[in-house]
Amino acid sequence: MDRAARLHQLEQLSLQAVTGGGADRVAKQHASGKQTARERIELLVDAGSFVELDRFVTHNSTDFGMEKQKFLGDGVVTGHATIDGRLIYLYAQDFTVFGGSLSAAHAGKICKVMDRAMEAGAPIIGLNDSGGARIQEGVASLGGYADIFLKNTLASGVIPQLSAILGPCAGGAVYSPAITDFIAMVDDTSYMFVTGPDVVKTVTHEEVTKEQLGGSDTHARISGVSHFRVPSEEAMAALLRELVSYIPSNNLSVAPRRPTEDPTDRACDDLVDLIPDNPNKPYDMKTVIHSVADEGRFLEVHAQYAPNIVVGFCRIDGRSVGVVANQPIHLAGCLDVDASLKAARFVRFCDCFNIPILTLVDVPGFLPGTTQEYGGIIKHGAKLLYAYAEATVPKVTLITRKAYGGAYDVMASKHIRADFNFAWPTAEIAVMGPDGAVNIIFRKEIVEAADPVARKAELTEDYREKFANPYRAAALGFLDDVFSPEQTRARLVQAFGALQNKRQELPAKKHGNIPL
Ligand code: HXC
Repeated sequence: MDRAARLHQLEQLSLQAVTGGGADRVAKQHASGKQTARERIELLVDAGSFVELDRFVTHNSTDFGMEKQKFLGDGVVTGHATIDGRLIYLYAQDFTVFGGSLSAAHAGKICKVMDRAMEAGAPIIGLNDSGGARIQEGVASLGGYADIFLKNTLASGVIPQLSAILGPCAGGAVYSPAITDFIAMVDDTSYMFVTGPDVVKTVTHEEVTKEQLGGSDTHARISGVSHFRVPSEEAMAALLRELVSYIPSNNLSVAPRRPTEDPTDRACDDLVDLIPDNPNKPYDMKTVIHSVADEGRFLEVHAQYAPNIVVGFCRIDGRSVGVVANQPIHLAGCLDVDASLKAARFVRFCDCFNIPILTLVDVPGFLPGTTQEYGGIIKHGAKLLYAYAEATVPKVTLITRKAYGGAYDVMASKHIRADFNFAWPTAEIAVMGPDGAVNIIFRKEIVEAADPVARKAELTEDYREKFANPYRAAALGFLDDVFSPEQTRARLVQAFGALQNKRQELPAKKHGNIPL
């Protein structure tokens, strides 16, 4: 073959490699409201930055006539690119080739980019759209999945791993995303389940649609498997780009600082009258987050799941900050099983990747009742306690109103190594609310009083005067300062600035034993 023929051969093969499963299957993909793997990559990364690897890889299977069906790339497009100029590695499954199903060769390509991402200290992003294990390959395919699971586990806490679900994700295909740091699903076209509706019907006789079983609403709102849901693939790309902007490339670096025009000493005028006079009235804690954040921007994680706690990312003076905040407008901001799990995982993510944590506290306690106790609130609440206590990143806590009981300890109190603990003058820090407290400690006195209602009101007021304020805690040094709401942004800017080079070590150990 002469030189010209060789170049021609390369051109032909290159063309073949980008064709995927062929025009018909691409048309089917588009008709079902989905983009192709390459179109998705184009949407996601900086224009012209994608460098593909392994486009000539094919499977080695010979059963079921597979040797006659080979597609260059074998159903997954892999490589590296940049997002806002920062290096990332990625893989995008190509549903037009054997339904994006995972062969040993396909798995090998994913493992290869994961290795490069680990060595280079760059995030890995998976664009998943797959019918699961390649049925024709049997155990070779199962082995391929397990190879990926191992790499996901080893990469956990070293490089950020993000999973976009853009089509079906069945069987083994759900467990790799489940080990990664964040899962995002697109409405109407993405599904995640261990077994599909047909198997469910056979085993449990339950009739369920795939949307009900594992659609974006199910996982964003009910199971909490998905951290984000978006209405379209374009929105998915925008979300992933934004998420990447808040996180560092690896565990040894910090998130890029983004200069802001928002004055660091801007007064938070909207917070002055936020707390209602009646302590039982709710207010929206997100007002506080938006008010203190640079340009009011906040990327909420798990927005629909356990809304009684809010978690997500903002920037304060250009620094990326993870926010954990009780939300009084849902369940009065109580901690329950789901809220504990949600916040614990988020705190651990921030701690893995050097993202300082801001905790906003208005919590009346743990949600009581058999549902919670049977659901294991003790072990799940302990996860949040453990996650906060273990975290060595800068931790700043602000109590806006209630911090009662065990929940006071859990929500990044001074005792579990928060660096700066602040309160507004409206803070109430006590073992329990005034009503409950007087009922217990003055039960006899109230019953025996000439006017029990009046006596109770008197005792409640007295208790409130004594304990329902921040000054007891401040006198003990459990709070570092009390300041007025309008000063909040300025004070947080100072606090995170003063902690920017914080170093704190954990005792040497293999790993802790978080109460799973
Ligand atoms: C090989 C597959 C495939 C698979 C789909 N295809 N899934 N080929 N292995 N797992 C092929 C189809 O044959 C078809 O090929 C093309 O992909 C598109 O599939 P359709 O069925 O036409 O598409 P659609 O109607 O959109 O349905 C998509 C689907 C369905 C819901 C994903 O294909 C499906 O249920 N697939 C099987 C899912 C599954 O049970 N996977 C195994 C899970 S077990 P042609 O040539 O017609 O285009 C597992 C174990 C791992 O993953 C465990 C590790 C721990």
